[in-house]
This record gives sequence, C-alpha cells and structure tokens, in this order.
Amino acid sequence: MLHRRDFLTLSTALIASGCLAGRKPKPKDAPVRIAQIGVGGRGTENLNGLLGAGAEIAAVCDVDSRMLESALRRPLQDARAFADMRELFARRHELELDGVLVSTADHTHAFATALALRAGLPVYTEKPLTRTIEESRRLRELAEAAQVPTQLGTQIHAYENYRRVVELVRSGAIGTVRSVDTWVPKGWCCGPQAPIVTPPATLNYDLWLGPAQMRPYVKDLHPSNWRKYWDYGTGTLGDMGCHMLDLPVWALGLDRSRLGVAEVRAQVSGVDRNGTPEWTEASWAIAQTEGDPLVLRWFDGGRKSPTAQELGAKDGVNYHERFTILFQGSEGFLWANYDEHLITPAAVAAKPRAALERIAPSPGHYHEWIEAIRAWRSGAQGTAEAPLCSFSRATTLNELVLSGTVAGRAGRALRYDFGASRFVDGNPLPAWQETPRAGWSLSDQDLDRVLG
Ligand SMILES: NC(=O)c1ccc[n+]([C@@H]2O[C@H](COP(=O)([O-])OP(=O)(O)OC[C@H]3O[C@@H](n4cnc5c(N)ncnc54)[C@H](O)[C@@H]3O)[C@@H](O)[C@H]2O)c1
Repeated sequence: MLHRRDFLTLSTALIASGCLAGRKPKPKDAPVRIAQIGVGGRGTENLNGLLGAGAEIAAVCDVDSRMLESALRRPLQDARAFADMRELFARRHELELDGVLVSTADHTHAFATALALRAGLPVYTEKPLTRTIEESRRLRELAEAAQVPTQLGTQIHAYENYRRVVELVRSGAIGTVRSVDTWVPKGWCCGPQAPIVTPPATLNYDLWLGPAQMRPYVKDLHPSNWRKYWDYGTGTLGDMGCHMLDLPVWALGLDRSRLGVAEVRAQVSGVDRNGTPEWTEASWAIAQTEGDPLVLRWFDGGRKSPTAQELGAKDGVNYHERFTILFQGSEGFLWANYDEHLITPAAVAAKPRAALERIAPSPGHYHEWIEAIRAWRSGAQGTAEAPLCSFSRATTLNELVLSGTVAGRAGRALRYDFGASRFVDGNPLPAWQETPRAGWSLSDQDLDRVLG
C-alpha cells in the first residue's frame, strides 16, 4: 500500500516528468505550444512576445469576443478560440499544450495559474501574480509541487539597465545601501459605484467575474479600470510595485530569509471597501544583522520621496520626474528608471571601482520561459537557466507588494512573515476576504473538477 507521503512524492515526480500531466513525449525541436488567456490590452504585447520567442499559439481565450476576434486576425496557424478558461483546460491534452500564459485582470490570475500548475503545465502570469496574499501562498505551494518553468510578467527584469544597477549596487559603488525609495506618478483611484449600465454586448461578464461575487456592472469597468476596485485589482501599488520594487529586491538579494519578518506601514488618501486610494505611501523595514533596518519606501498618486525632492532642490535637477527609484548609500546615491541610471554626487560617480561582476544579458523575458520549457520538456534538467522571475522568487516580490496594499487598508503597522507567507497576527482584513463563487476556489477539489 502507498502511504500518503510516498504518494505525494511520487505524484510530484510524475507531474515533473509530465506523466500525470498526460503529455505525449515530443521531439526536442517540436514547437512549444502555448495557450494565452486574456488577449486584449497587455495580452497583445504578450502574444507578440511569445511569437517573438518562437512559441506556437495553440489557443487563445478571452471573455470579450471583440478581443478574441482581434487576436485571431493575426496569423496564428491553427489556434483554437475559447471564452471560458475552464473549457480550455479541460481540452489541454488534445491541444497538446506545453504552457499557459495568463494576462487577465488581477482577480482571475490565481485561478488560471493554479489550474495550470495543478495540471503540471508551465505558466507565465502577469504581475501582480495574485490579488491577495492568500492566493499567493497557495500558488507558492502549487508551484513547489509542480516544479515546472514559471515566469512573472516583470519584463523589465530582462532589460540591460536593471543589470547595470544591480552590478553597481553589489560592487559597493555607493557604499552600504540604507534605504531605497520608489515611486510612480500615476494613480488608479477610487472605484466609482455608478453609473450602473448593461455590460458591453461583446463581454461575458459572468465569466469575467469568475471567482468574484456577482455585482452590477459599473460603466467602463472593463477593460483596464478594474484596477480601481479592490475586488478585482490592487490599485497603483499592486499595478506598478512589482516592476519598481523588483530592482532593490534583486540588487540587495532580498529573498524570503533576508526579508524575514518585516514591519509594513502604509498611509493612504482614504480607506474604502470598494475603491483603491488616490495615493499611497508605504514602507517596509527589514531587520539587518547589525545596525538600523533597511527601509524600502513606495510613493504613488503624486506623493513624492522627500529625499528625492531635497536632493533635487540642492542639485537643481528634477530627479523625481526623470527617475523612479533612488538607492541611498552610505557614500552616495544611485538613481534609476527602466532605461537609465545615474550616481550622485559626481565625485562618487567618478571614483575608480574594482571590476564589476557582470550579469549576463537575458535572451529576453519570454525566451527565458520558452527555452526553460524546451529543456524541461526534454527532461534535460539544468540545460537551461530557470526563468529569472520564476514563482519561487516572484511570490516573494508579489507578497512584498501586496503586504503594502493590505497595510494601507488596515491603517496600522503590520508584521509580515515572508517565510510563512502570512501576517504575524492573522489576517488584518477579514472584511475584505470574500468567499469565491462556487467552483472558483483554489482548492484541490475545485481545480480537479475543471481538470477532470
Ligand atoms: N507587464 C506589464 O508591463 C503590464 C502592463 C499592463 C498590464 N499588465 C498586467 O496585465 C494584466 C491585464 O491588464 P490589461 O491592462 O491588459 O487589462 P485589460 O482589462 O485591458 O485586458 C484584460 C484582457 O483579459 C480579458 N479577460 C479578463 N478576464 C478574463 C477571463 N476570466 N478569461 C479570459 N479572458 C479574460 C479581457 O477581456 C481583456 O481582453 C493585469 O494583470 C495587468 O497588471 C502588465
């Protein structure tokens, strides 16, 4: 008789080798067949990215027929079209899928991603990985069990400039980093509750809601503006935090053990059950082995980093407009955005430095994932680098960002335990925790009902 532990080990191994996933072995050079869920908005860039990385689009899925039609206007060979992701997953074997890309609104990321992982399929999911901490914890568990190539949609991670900044920080170019400020000028605000209108004729609103409770459709909710509602999105911090905080997390090696139990605080323009705030200022204090904690800060919706403002006034430069990230070191400052960086003061920038440890260029964010799938599919462990934003790393970044959005609503300092993926004193937002609609939870039962 097989004991439960043995069964789990065996099923993990079988999933990793593709047996439970029901995949037929494919020749090494066979095309990598991807299904993309959500093809409007960011989805158009994701389709381009997949095609550019040499993937074959096996299926497209969208709850808005207008978006599907527009995607199918491309030469996508024999791509099948679906409105309901559950149907797509049920047909994954006949589609001969090698992976799934999820590019829907935030509130449906977790269900789609969990289905892929439970089916033993590689998955690329847009940022933020999930809408809630609980979903992130569950995906962490499913990803650990599935052991398939995963990637978060933080494509800036593949840019050259982020590599140069990481090298400089690691080489000590500005001394010991004591704090990092990050900001974005934009703000997704307030989740208006009116006017209530009939959903667009091309949209299957019931499927769009997925796990979310049925509510009347508010004008202009879809596309894009769902970001202004806690039930579907994560506000500005959730939208942009994964891109900006990715850089300090990378440069300072902030993995789960380095983050430990962090103190998270956030001030917001106002707390509302429905709508995300006009602005947020958040901070994470991370204990160091010696001295003061390292502090990461976030500013959005027009709020500004006081340090960036002070330095800008002193140097007569509008750093705030030009950059979005400021590393403050014991010897100087390093400013960055996606494409450029600058060390100040000039004397620190001019200082001779020891040779930098170079970080190899990325073949491209989509290439990283597609090549990892090829290697995984052929069973050649270790023949390709794991995607750099795989979920083992991305769930940490995701929880860093989401813990800030929770602290803003909780209105008090919280302690987040990155090892356990939970707040130390329990869920600070019980009123925000909704039961998913029947059949849409991340439980094994609900996922397996879809997967058959
Ligand atoms: N990486 C980046 O730089 C970047 C940029 C923009 C958006 N994003 C992310 O991409 C995701 C989508 O954002 P967007 O701006 O494209 O939103 P959007 O509302 O414009 O587009 C979402 C698309 O997904 C479809 N969709 C929604 N729910 C679906 C479901 N259950 N099943 C199938 N299709 C569904 C919609 O019809 C639409 O076509 C978000 O998570 C967002 O954070 C990432």
